[in-house]
Amino acid sequence: MFESLQAAQADAILGLIAEHRSDPRAEKIDLGVGVYRTEQGETPVLGVVKCAEQRLVDSQDSKSYIGTAGAADFNAAMQALTFGDSSPDDRLATIQTPGGSGSLRVAAGMILRASPNASVWASEPTWANHIPLLGGAGVQLKSYPYYDTENHVIKIDDMLAALRTAPAGDIVLLHACCHNPSGLDPSEDDWRAITDVIVERALVPFIDMAYQGFADNLDSDAFAVRYMADRVPEMIVATSCSKNFGLYRDRVGTLSMLTADSKTRDIVYSQVNNLVRTIYSVPPDHGAAVVSLILHDAELREAWLGELAEMRDRLKSMRTLLSDALQEKAPQHDFSHLARTTGMFCFLGISAEQVAKLKRDYGIYMVDSSRINFAGITPQNVDYLASSIAATLEGE
Ligand code: LMR
Repeated sequence: MFESLQAAQADAILGLIAEHRSDPRAEKIDLGVGVYRTEQGETPVLGVVKCAEQRLVDSQDSKSYIGTAGAADFNAAMQALTFGDSSPDDRLATIQTPGGSGSLRVAAGMILRASPNASVWASEPTWANHIPLLGGAGVQLKSYPYYDTENHVIKIDDMLAALRTAPAGDIVLLHACCHNPSGLDPSEDDWRAITDVIVERALVPFIDMAYQGFADNLDSDAFAVRYMADRVPEMIVATSCSKNFGLYRDRVGTLSMLTADSKTRDIVYSQVNNLVRTIYSVPPDHGAAVVSLILHDAELREAWLGELAEMRDRLKSMRTLLSDALQEKAPQHDFSHLARTTGMFCFLGISAEQVAKLKRDYGIYMVDSSRINFAGITPQNVDYLASSIAATLEGE
């Protein structure tokens, strides 16, 4: 049976982890996969997570199944974190999912059940796995212009014009904050304009929020979600706790569907539970139980906010450090756009050949598109990084 298969291509992002690991050069730098790292290059378990895990180990008395929707206390806390205090609960169907990717996969299934002819419009570019994940689930995809590679700005007018051509009922995939891969987010005014088009054209926003707390703070990072939730009848929101709680491998996320009324909400909730049963039956419990403990306990929550701010501030300072170092080492090249980005990523704006040269000659790893993860930068390696980039650009 398996003889007919050809080997699959290595994943554009995950493949870099193994490549970097097997590189023997001491000076190598990993700017690839979107995982937070400290100045020591580590991705430690957050202190607050360790503390909540200990409490969980001491108090948990069963490993029996949780339901298809996951834990109600987790879902309620995440709903409040996502939608804020004025969360429209009676119109929201929220379930716990295995990470943000699990949430996107279930969302795809719900789109196919509810609106099989609708297309999902994704930003050009978008997260490298959005298209394979949603397309692989059977959803039809289209794209709207987003990133101007020459001027490093959002093509907001082109984006709005493209969305104005979408038929009613089509779905618009948006990144709530820290756009992956570009690091460029719409301004609040842009979000208002995007919402106006969505309302005018009767489109459905589908917001992926994988980096809440990594741009500015939990509330302003959720601006798009909350602004739209107040204005549109229907919306899909996928969240992830991989980055902001550092729970990558524990797979923690939510899927929320905003419906026009509470009766529809109940129908959607029954459908999504039915769908989950046919995919992975029930979500994993551990990471979500940890998040729930943290969000429901004032002291733990405060400690989490502190650790989250530490991660965010480190990313910000590495952004400045690299901008300054590039200004010094490669003054004839313009990297000023770095300072305008938020979150973990931005495009360096160099060619795929230059990306390959950085890997081959200097052991510096980044996605072919020249997306870099600021968390791979440290005060110790920034000089080598900027010099290597400058040398690579000079070699052209
Ligand atoms: C990334 O974009 O690097 C992260 O979201 C990790 C992943 O799964 O791709």
